[in-house]
Amino acid sequence: MNNFLNLNEIAPKKLEAILEDATKVKKATRGDAALNECYSSCLNNTITGLLFEKLSTRTRLSFEAAVLKLGGQVSNLRKDEIHLGQGETLQDTCAMFSLFLDVLVLRLYEEEKLYEFARHSKIPIINGLTNESHPCQVLTDIFTFQEIKGSITGKKVVWFGVANNVFQSFLHAAVALKFHIVFSGPAKFGPSKKMLEFIQKNNSNIFTIEPNPIVAVENADLVVTDKWVSMHDNKLSKSDLDDLGNFRVTNELISFAKADVLFMHCLPADKGQEVSLDIFEDKRCVTLKEAENRMHLQKAILRWCLGLF
Ligand code: CP
Ligand code: NVA
Repeated sequence: MNNFLNLNEIAPKKLEAILEDATKVKKATRGDAALNECYSSCLNNTITGLLFEKLSTRTRLSFEAAVLKLGGQVSNLRKDEIHLGQGETLQDTCAMFSLFLDVLVLRLYEEEKLYEFARHSKIPIINGLTNESHPCQVLTDIFTFQEIKGSITGKKVVWFGVANNVFQSFLHAAVALKFHIVFSGPAKFGPSKKMLEFIQKNNSNIFTIEPNPIVAVENADLVVTDKWVSMHDNKLSKSDLDDLGNFRVTNELISFAKADVLFMHCLPADKGQEVSLDIFEDKRCVTLKEAENRMHLQKAILRWCLGLF
């Protein structure tokens, strides 16, 4: 049984197989009728559960679309309508989910709870974001990069702002797929001890911290940022906002990168805060493509979790 929990726990060859499957699935939906027929029923007779403790627009919708387009069914589980945490244990809840569902997508606060689900479930678990990670998003970003530019191996990715959950999944991906990642932001918002230990243990050559944003962005192939305040974070003080303002991604900042650099943001964005408004009009900005590709990549994740390749 394949769980999709974190990118550092899935062998690079398997990540590559998921990326390859996503390419085939996307091609199939773009006019290859024979191929499309083979995919459009591959989740027949399966039910995918979606349980989200936090808000979501893209992840929930793209998983629903992915499942329905592959011939499966979706069960949307509302946390305020089930007994979990209000009179029933996680273990007992997992036993019920395992009876009636085939795969479960979770968006949770605590990463530990994700692993508890995985320990007690007899069905595959997919991490749809925790406070610490967002692997579906980051594998989609890699897919989107490779679709436009070819292999990400050896490329330079620069992350601006706050070293958050999406950033941590980028670190995992950098080790697995061998690209270089630079963090540029105020020291206070830099990588956690856990992230630094992960890099140290795995491959410290793939990671650099560069406090000067213009130096950081030189020669970048991909520039990425995210909201400074994630769903689980507290509000920032005025002085923190001012410090972070030096790392706002603007058209001017990315003009110091490679001419064909791409800009990504997982969305939702605080336009004008971590990223200037004008960048969304720029051809280097591929945020809509990232969002569209969530569905294609997640089709491949579902297929992999269900043992279809
Ligand atoms: N990028 C992303 O995961 O968006 P949602 O929070 O809308 O799912
Ligand atoms: N870092 C953001 C990502 C949202 C998709 C958050 O966790 O809120």
